Amino acid sequence: MANYETILVEKKGAVTLVTLNRPQALNALNSTVLTELIDAFAAYDADPGQRCLVLTGSEKAFAAGADIKEMQAQGFADMYASDFFKGWEKVTATRKPWIAAVGGFALGGGCEVAMMADFIIAADSAKFGQPEIKLGVSPGMGGSQRLTWAIGKAKAMEMCLTGRMMGAEEAERSGLVAKVVPAADLLNEALKTAETIASMAPLAAIANKEMVNAAFEMGLAQGINFERRLFHGLFGTEDQKEGMTAFVDKRPGNWTGR
Ligand code: CAA
Repeated sequence: MANYETILVEKKGAVTLVTLNRPQALNALNSTVLTELIDAFAAYDADPGQRCLVLTGSEKAFAAGADIKEMQAQGFADMYASDFFKGWEKVTATRKPWIAAVGGFALGGGCEVAMMADFIIAADSAKFGQPEIKLGVSPGMGGSQRLTWAIGKAKAMEMCLTGRMMGAEEAERSGLVAKVVPAADLLNEALKTAETIASMAPLAAIANKEMVNAAFEMGLAQGINFERRLFHGLFGTEDQKEGMTAFVDKRPGNWTGR
């Protein structure tokens, strides 16, 4: 496995655990973190033995944002020429499922990366926010869009304009996170959920992810048609025969990923 400077990667059975590891900067997301995450996520996607991924941070911070010190001296031409943050699209291009396990601060880019995940499991200590306005800027990794899709205009606008933090309980109530667990159980709960996903037919997992994500891109009729076509397509897999036969035989499915 690659030797990284800012992240830790472990394989736990069929689940890949990626831990952000820049404690001195509360896991601020600099360009090394991005490069390493792109590499780790691509390796996960390409490994047929790995079926779900969990991205987490530390107890104090999932990630306190993009690295302000790295951006401080940059001008418009630098940002525009490098299309700064474009690389995150490589992370969101991951086809297989992944979960963000968030404890502590998930601010700015930290909140945005968490929202790139298929869903978020939050510790009761989690604090979400888009405080970029306090730095004279705005979200830049999709936060204004994904937050609005997740929690609606009223709260997203209020959070972006005031930069205030939202606690875990409010985040769950607002639809930002799938569930909240005690901070001490965060990793276990996230890994357990990841193992459940990893135990499903792999192609069905990719198809389910793809069709839910299509809801953000398509109108309702087009999205329903897309879902139906993917559903039809799954009848071309061995795992559909296996899954339905296993149900009838009253035994668990034994997936081939074909
Ligand atoms: N970038 C770079 N360094 C950061 C950082 C960030 N986003 N967040 C924290 N750090 C560093 C601090 O500078 C500090 O380093 P030093 O010890 O060298 O001074 C170290 O991490 C510890 O931080 P604090 O001393 O500030 O810790 P705290 O417990 O007092 O406060 C905090 C915690 C409230 C999260 C505070 O660190 C904070 O407000 N951080 C910045 C949050 C923020 O504005 N995020 C948005 C960044 S911009 C962005 O993300 C753009 C985008 O759209 C992607």
